Amino acid sequence: MSTNNAALRVEGVNISFGGLRALNDVYLEIGKNEVVGLIGPNGAGKTTLFNALCGLVKPDSGKFYLDGKEQNFPQTAQLVDLGIARTLQGIGLFGDLTVLENVMIGAQKFARSGLISAGFGRNNRDERELKERAMHYLENVYAIGLANRRADTLSYPDTKRVAIARALVGEPKILMLDEPAGGLGSQDIEWMNLLIRNLTAQMSVLIVEHHMDVVMTVCSKLYVLNFGEVIASGNAETVRRDPAVMAAYLGTGA
Ligand SMILES: Nc1ncnc2c1ncn2[C@@H]1O[C@H](COP(=O)(O)OP(=O)(O)OP(=O)(O)O)[C@@H](O)[C@H]1O
Ligand SMILES: [Mg+2]
Repeated sequence: MSTNNAALRVEGVNISFGGLRALNDVYLEIGKNEVVGLIGPNGAGKTTLFNALCGLVKPDSGKFYLDGKEQNFPQTAQLVDLGIARTLQGIGLFGDLTVLENVMIGAQKFARSGLISAGFGRNNRDERELKERAMHYLENVYAIGLANRRADTLSYPDTKRVAIARALVGEPKILMLDEPAGGLGSQDIEWMNLLIRNLTAQMSVLIVEHHMDVVMTVCSKLYVLNFGEVIASGNAETVRRDPAVMAAYLGTGA
């Protein structure tokens, strides 16, 4: 994968929380239409890096490139324009809205309050188009039958489907998923694997995940963090055999 036209690349990322060095000279590259996995033991810095990539944490230093072009690390309000979407560990659906409404919100650049005051529910063509798009992505995550349910009545696996549909409806170039398989049973993990693999036709995907079988199945490249540093990167086989990785995971039960 050529470095120059990677969908997203960071290098030299440093982040400290007080005296704690959470990330130390971290690099990562996500190729176009590639699924990249970010793994590592608890506290390794995975979520911190993820958060830096989607504007929730500001790095102390580091370089950020989109499509080979250097720019500032994004702020959350810029993500839609930059073609980046993400789901978070805490799912964050609006419980009192329907599934369809929740997914439609994913296409908007403004928050829920702005959406409502901008005329959500008005019967115009934009809304019809958006609704169709939202239904299309609900279908993609096998959740079309949930469209009219209130979000707070969904099972946990179903909220994960809907959160992904909400991320997809903005038609991102890069989708970032923090623990997509977390809390899912083996059957749900199977559809998640399938879903993620299908997405690569349209976009690049970054997943932070504890489930080794998921990352080994869907990722073409892995980065392993330990104590805030990248200790290995490469395909699943290479990483699995890496002595530093085996040592990092020894005794963690993963
Ligand atoms: N906002 C914060 N303030 C202070 N320390 C933090 C903050 N966020 C994370 N840390 C610390 O930074 C380190 C990396 O945490 P991070 O959450 O990125 O790890 P992780 O790899 O996502 O772990 P897990 O697998 O448990 O989710 C940890 O030592 C954590 O305690
Ligand atoms: Mg984490």
